[in-house]
Amino acid sequence: MPTPFYVTTPIYYVNDAPHIGHAYTTVAADTLARWRRLWGDDVVFLTGTDEHGLKVQRAAEAQGVTPAEWADRTSERFREAWRLLDITNTDFIRTTEPRHYAAVSEFLQRVHDNGYIELDTYEGLYCVHCEAYYAEDELVGGTNCPIHDRPVDHVTEENYFFRLSRFTDRLLEHYERHPEAVQPDTRRNEVLGFIKQGLRDFSMSRTSITWGIPLPWDPAHVTYVWFDALFNYCTAIGYGSDRARFDRYWPVDYHLVGKDILRFHAVFWPAMLMAAGEAPPTCVFAHGYLLVGGEKMSKTRLNQIAPADLVAGFGSDGFRYHFLADQRFGPDGDFSYEAMVARYNADLANNFGNLANRVLNMAVNYCGGVVPDTRADGPLMAAAAAAFTGATTAMERLDYAAACGAVWDLIRATNAYIEDTEPWKLHKAGDVAAVHGVLGDCLESLRIVALLAAPVIPRAGAELWRRLGLPGRPEDARLPGAAAWGGLPVGAPLEKGDPLFPRFEPPVA
Ligand code: MSP
Repeated sequence: MPTPFYVTTPIYYVNDAPHIGHAYTTVAADTLARWRRLWGDDVVFLTGTDEHGLKVQRAAEAQGVTPAEWADRTSERFREAWRLLDITNTDFIRTTEPRHYAAVSEFLQRVHDNGYIELDTYEGLYCVHCEAYYAEDELVGGTNCPIHDRPVDHVTEENYFFRLSRFTDRLLEHYERHPEAVQPDTRRNEVLGFIKQGLRDFSMSRTSITWGIPLPWDPAHVTYVWFDALFNYCTAIGYGSDRARFDRYWPVDYHLVGKDILRFHAVFWPAMLMAAGEAPPTCVFAHGYLLVGGEKMSKTRLNQIAPADLVAGFGSDGFRYHFLADQRFGPDGDFSYEAMVARYNADLANNFGNLANRVLNMAVNYCGGVVPDTRADGPLMAAAAAAFTGATTAMERLDYAAACGAVWDLIRATNAYIEDTEPWKLHKAGDVAAVHGVLGDCLESLRIVALLAAPVIPRAGAELWRRLGLPGRPEDARLPGAAAWGGLPVGAPLEKGDPLFPRFEPPVA
């Protein structure tokens, strides 16, 4: 029975169109899902849209349509963006679906029955954009939300409260025992610091809006959007409808999130699960912001970039590679178009693409168009083993940049090997065995490159695989066996072709 592996992205608000920030998390999750499939895991990869709450209700009103119509429209735009980026999610959840209503209702009733939800009055400072209350000392300049830098609203409500305060010790104990449950370490420290201050109960229902899931025991209230949204992760794997399936995939292996929603995922969410008697997530991994011009993207700053704008020039592979290789998955990073062009040309057009062309051309010309029967078993053998180990250990800590680095080291080693051995000279000298040996090694190295790079650049990985005469697609292969030296079948037909990554010349303004 294959090992179950469950990875999620946040479900994105439908008040906004998809931009490269959303795509960043989604591409990272997709690469992890593809990587785990190579290891033979039974992968569930979930993404979706978060469709309730005041923010969405207001966005719909501003457009003069119902929230449901607005949600339909925008949710579809996310699906389109993920198709464009070759995202292989196995499910797409919308919080307005009947399956989610049913699962959330059951979960709410459970938490209520367990005594963790109670009626109370609350007065506080609320940021609509975060859909969260803030304490006065958390505000910027005494008036503004620390995340959005916009004025908060003063709100008084009689609401149901989730008794988060009762979970302070249990959460600390949990993180003590499972230091890997929040990553990277800086984020873990942030979470621990927040919990240690003591947790406050929070309001988990609203009477001021209607766009949400009614509480099963008091339908005059709708569920607070975060309380409903977080539960999507359980709905999708069968909570309330298929307990065996739920137990197979829960607890989730990775929730990938941006640092803006760390607190919800690493404090509220595990407590909510504990309140219902379920296990907390195995790991919440929070990455930094992708900044544009040094600032977080937002509608009001008019600095959002749509994935389609970049895919048009760089392709889906070029997009994916850039965001994974260009910065560490963890800290903030600035997006720059110039850097994207430079990296595309250097790493994809030159290193990857030229190597593939060069090796395939020589092999077609000097080895009769098929994989030769000789290998030199030269230095590339060790380089390939190092690439595999490097990529594997990097992926264990979700260090995508280091994983790409390990594969590109093999590409560079292969280019250097060609320079050193000069197969064209060996060919001229008529040393057939030597030419075959050197090119046999290079082809073998290309196979391992195609395999290990495929989770990041699936199109080019599959095309190179095909040109090497390999059957199926890289994703049909299984690690670790497939990364072993010598997997290329002798006599397989080779194919030259157009450049895998044509050089990018920026349009002249
Ligand atoms: N709906 C909530 C999440 C609920 S999950 C149960 C939400 N939605 S969101 O549309 O605002 O998406 C936020 C997420 O999008 C971030 O956590 C991050 O994963 C991604 N990003 C949005 N902007 C981003 C950047 N500028 N940079 C990196 N990631 C960004 O919050």
